[in-house]
Amino acid sequence: MEQSVKAADILEVRHVTNYYAGTGTSLLPGRHRHRVLNDVSLTIHNDEFFGLVGESGSGKSTLANCILGLIPYEGEIFVAGKPSPYNNKHRTREQVLEYTRNVQAIFQDPLSALDPGKTISFTLQEPLKAHRRYLAEKGIIRNREDREKRVREVLSLCDLDPSYADRRPGGLSGGQRQRVCIAASLMLSPPLILADEAISALDVSVGSQILNLFRDIDEKADFAMLFISHNLNVVYYLCDRIAVLFNGQIVEQGDSEQLYSDPKHPYTQLLLSAVPGLGKSGTENGQDTGAANAGETKTSGGAENAGKAGTEGKTEGPGKAEDPRSAEAGEAQADAEEDGCPYAARCPKATAACREKIPLKDISVRQADGTVKEHLVRCVLA
Ligand SMILES: Nc1ncnc2c1ncn2[C@@H]1O[C@H](COP(=O)(O)OP(=O)(O)O)[C@@H](O)[C@H]1O
Ligand code: SF4
Ligand SMILES: [Mg+2]
Repeated sequence: MEQSVKAADILEVRHVTNYYAGTGTSLLPGRHRHRVLNDVSLTIHNDEFFGLVGESGSGKSTLANCILGLIPYEGEIFVAGKPSPYNNKHRTREQVLEYTRNVQAIFQDPLSALDPGKTISFTLQEPLKAHRRYLAEKGIIRNREDREKRVREVLSLCDLDPSYADRRPGGLSGGQRQRVCIAASLMLSPPLILADEAISALDVSVGSQILNLFRDIDEKADFAMLFISHNLNVVYYLCDRIAVLFNGQIVEQGDSEQLYSDPKHPYTQLLLSAVPGLGKSGTENGQDTGAANAGETKTSGGAENAGKAGTEGKTEGPGKAEDPRSAEAGEAQADAEEDGCPYAARCPKATAACREKIPLKDISVRQADGTVKEHLVRCVLA
């Protein structure tokens, strides 16, 4: 039986866990599964921008790929109240088409996302053709003329002149290509867009323009966004709520202002310590390079590098001696070690209590006007 989710929630991720096959480490030799996502749950409300931030390797793209049905997972994912068809081996073509109408994605590298041999118009019309029957039945797009009109509309929504329709990706700059990818994601007016490191390959000022474009489009169209980035400052600039992912677990989540002004988890505090005191005001006051600039330079120089060092330290080690333990025993021990605080190996405040499984604690703050600012933290000190 299909479970229901609240109509106001465009995305519901429930207890998603994902494994990749591993070859073992010096401490746990033999074949074992590497758990990348560990019981991740999150909800995105209609029309909100939700940021997922974490260092390289924390599992952000893996979660995106689970939502897009590109890799298998344990747990449940609902988009627009419907369960993802990808975990159902009896799925129908219509279920898959409906799911893709509800969630579209933008990735880091616009060049590889676009076919160099095709015009922009051809590329943008592809989703309209794939959903031709549905669009015709609904009276939204009936013929070629309607498709070409939609291409012009969406190009202009993305601040591109309609004449771009006849051009090919090769003649465009990186920023223009990313605008075309954003346009492609908007062609079917999906209620959810997933953007995975969508500005990370662009230079700082072009990245800032793309961030501002997302804000402009948000004013003109109704959609929610899961915005994934390694850069907390960028996510703070754009998003209403933020979740911080570390080693496959959400360690802190909340209202953007709340999390940015009063971070409780030591890892979020580390991320923020690498960022100067610059937030939403940077771009709002016309300093176009503000948020992206500060984030790109500081986060990647500080917390991002610290993260890589930590991961390397944990997975590499001397010796490759054969271990008599079975693969199952190795897996069980690896999972048990991962069940405590995922940040314990790097946390200066760690104690023995941090080896236990730590729930996300709700420390949401009630405002004078009765509204509540969400704040969840996975730390024994919270
Ligand atoms: N196809 C794969 N096979 C095996 N391991 C993978 C694969 N893709 C990602 N991983 C591992 O999963 C972890 C999370 O990767 P990813 O989701 O890409 O992180 P992020 O997007 O946060 O940088 C990393 O340790 C990475 O090495
Ligand atoms: S639970 Fe312990 S190890 Fe984890 S962040 Fe909190 S104090 Fe540090
Ligand atoms: Mg990634």
